[in-house]
Amino acid sequence: MQLSRRVMSIQPSPTLALNAKADAMRAQGVDIINFGAGQPDFPTPANICQAAIKAINDGFTRYTPVPGTPELKQAVINKFKRDNGLEYSMDQVMVNVGGKHSSYLIMQALLDDGDEVIVPAPYWVSYPPMVILAGGKPIIVPTREQDGFKLQMADLEKAVSPKTKAIFINSPSNPTGGVYSEAELRPLAEFCAAKGILIVSDEMYEPILFDGRSFTATAALSPAVYEHTITLNGVSKAYAMTGWRIGYMGGPAELVKACSKIQSQSTSNPTSIAQKAAEEALNGPQEIVGEMNQSFERRRNLIMDLIAGLPGVTCFRPEGSFYAFPSFHAYYGKKFGGKEIKGSQDLADYLLDQAAVAAVPGIAFGEDACIRFSFAISDEQIEKGMASVKAALAKLS
Ligand SMILES: Cc1ncc(COP(=O)(O)O)c(C=O)c1O
Repeated sequence: MQLSRRVMSIQPSPTLALNAKADAMRAQGVDIINFGAGQPDFPTPANICQAAIKAINDGFTRYTPVPGTPELKQAVINKFKRDNGLEYSMDQVMVNVGGKHSSYLIMQALLDDGDEVIVPAPYWVSYPPMVILAGGKPIIVPTREQDGFKLQMADLEKAVSPKTKAIFINSPSNPTGGVYSEAELRPLAEFCAAKGILIVSDEMYEPILFDGRSFTATAALSPAVYEHTITLNGVSKAYAMTGWRIGYMGGPAELVKACSKIQSQSTSNPTSIAQKAAEEALNGPQEIVGEMNQSFERRRNLIMDLIAGLPGVTCFRPEGSFYAFPSFHAYYGKKFGGKEIKGSQDLADYLLDQAAVAAVPGIAFGEDACIRFSFAISDEQIEKGMASVKAALAKLS
């Protein structure tokens, strides 16, 4: 069969592929420690599950309006106001089938063939393929560990062209754990707004912040930035609801309406039951979010102590999200059993085979020096896994 050029030009999600491989090894009896997971290891809070059960019992099992139920949209509006000081009206928000779907729809609604989208690297794995699937061209702009992997103004200026349509900003970041402060974000955002570049602000990890940091929503920076920003968020990471598939966006009504048109011809609406659960997540008690954050911060401290004990490895200290992104560059060129470790893919394969540790090669995020370790796993697993990594690294020469 001749498949489309579009689909042939992308790869399947490497993070989901790694998790599938780790699951398969585990099913064969290998005691894998999986640092690949992109999701909280906590159960969805009981009040949220109860709201879904009630929805089923109430027969809330039919199609809903395409952009989400009015009640959930109102909960989204209230959330933006409560947490971010952002004012959105009903025609400026919509609910999608997970945060991934929100960014996919935006690319489909925005891009014509050859339009450019700036993607600072390291990036979330799905941004470049989403741009490509919409006919656009991802312009990858590298950042540096010493800058906290945050985009620098001079690099942004160089990357902009007359074809630049949008830019992805992801804070807190997957995979680096970097969180833009207001001072870091403001000049970048104001520059983009002045140039008429749409800022796609992916705030999926918003509440997972360490060392008492506060969060700056891009759209809240100024009225001009607000006009040029579409804010993406969701319940997946904040409320341990990855399987429920609910994300949402807020931004220019014209763009939201265009996304809704595509949703109406593709997925219709997100699952009715999951929408009721998300409504409870956003409207209900928020204490659980802080409790999960405390666990993530403790684990961040633990994994950073253990990474510090790995000879030759450097690591930016995550400021939020639940990922550490250490550089193993010092090990490239070393060998085990005659086989040379040439980059992050080889090292991740080696760790899987020799240490029974699954972690995602940095090349998938556009930074081959590093490997991504999710610390959304238990303290015991973090300790055991990092001890295995240390032993495996010592065998390389
Ligand atoms: C940066 C970032 N944005 C968006 C998403 C999508 O989340 P969802 O599971 O709601 O589709 C993820 C999930 O890994 C992510 O890491």
